[in-house]
Amino acid sequence: MNIVVTGGAGFIGSNFVYYLLAHHPEDRVICLDKLTYAASMEALDDAMRDERFRFVRGDIADTDAVERLFAEEKPDIVVNFAAETHVDRSIDDPGVFVRTNIMGTQTLLDACRKHGVRRFHQVSTDEVYGDLPLDRPDLFFTEETPLHTSSPYSASKAGADLLALAYARTFGLPVSITRCSNNYGPYQFPEKLIPLMISRALADESMPVYGKGENVRDWLYVEDHCAAVDAVMRMGRPGEVYNVGGHNERTNLSVVRTILQELRKPESLIAFVTDRPGHDRRYAIDPAKISAELGWLPATPFEEGIRRTIRWYVDNRGWWSRILSGDYRAYYEKMYAHR
Ligand code: NAD
Ligand code: TYD
Repeated sequence: MNIVVTGGAGFIGSNFVYYLLAHHPEDRVICLDKLTYAASMEALDDAMRDERFRFVRGDIADTDAVERLFAEEKPDIVVNFAAETHVDRSIDDPGVFVRTNIMGTQTLLDACRKHGVRRFHQVSTDEVYGDLPLDRPDLFFTEETPLHTSSPYSASKAGADLLALAYARTFGLPVSITRCSNNYGPYQFPEKLIPLMISRALADESMPVYGKGENVRDWLYVEDHCAAVDAVMRMGRPGEVYNVGGHNERTNLSVVRTILQELRKPESLIAFVTDRPGHDRRYAIDPAKISAELGWLPATPFEEGIRRTIRWYVDNRGWWSRILSGDYRAYYEKMYAHR
């Protein structure tokens, strides 16, 4: 099969490219990526040496570029990871989130219709459900939980999900959606909680925890997410949504403390800073549907995944140091200076 992976130079997309190349020797993988600040061609170094892999630089919201690629490659499956993904950036500047996440998805959906693509898979997020209260540990997001978004990021992802479902119902396009919880692992851009905290602890710099650090996220090791997307895009029922994650809930403060302990750094590095506006309190996934239908459950306990991730960031200091010394430095100063 020919599989187009959009956003394949990003964190999860690049891990997914390697997942496909390793698990499906019969498939060709074509990555379409605009190479925004969040992309890393370095992450694709090994893939570029594989003859089953092709990289194309392009914007998913550019109709001509998408048309050209689809005409050339005649994809069987299109899996859409491409997105603007950072909540804090979406609060600072929502426009690009609407353009890429909503209009880009629509451009891909139209191309899939025109070219008779056998499956369009949308990689979405549990953030489309909004949040859960901290004092109700018995509540979880299911696929029936109403969409109730908090940030421009989650609103744009919900818009994309609704468009994908509309194309399934109105045009009969074979669409599937996964809504995943927070990922962590190699090649995550160091603006997100876990790599940000690891890189700052390693540099003995203050670690900015929003509010009191009580917010809860349901952490999933990136390889487990890749396995879920692969299963759903091949075997999931068209027109269906599958939640991905489960059973790895941690408060932000406990994640930060775990990182400090693993790196043998002092708690005095923790700095409580002004909270994020509209900060979602708790995300927690009920993975019953994907588990019952496709036999998927998270395989990596948090303790093991976080150790592996910390080791990777220690061993690959060059990768994130180069990012931190470039444009990202100006971003950090702008976003954190007055917190
Ligand atoms: P990321 O920010 O690390 O990477 C995004 C990639 O998309 C980058 O390579 C970027 O260059 C590319 N891109 C951005 N705009 C583009 C455009 N207009 N055209 C083509 N390429 C473009 O993101 P990530 O963390 O790997 O997330 C991937 C997907 O998974 C996103 O759709 C995100 O919403 C979803 N998701 C992420 C998480 C998480 O914890 N990271 C959790 C659930 C769902
Ligand atoms: P993040 O990695 O941005 O993912 P998301 O907001 O999509 O869940 O943030 C994870 C949690 O960590 C979230 O509750 C916000 C918090 N956080 C901090 O406390 N400090 C930080 O500097 C960042 C980036 C996040």
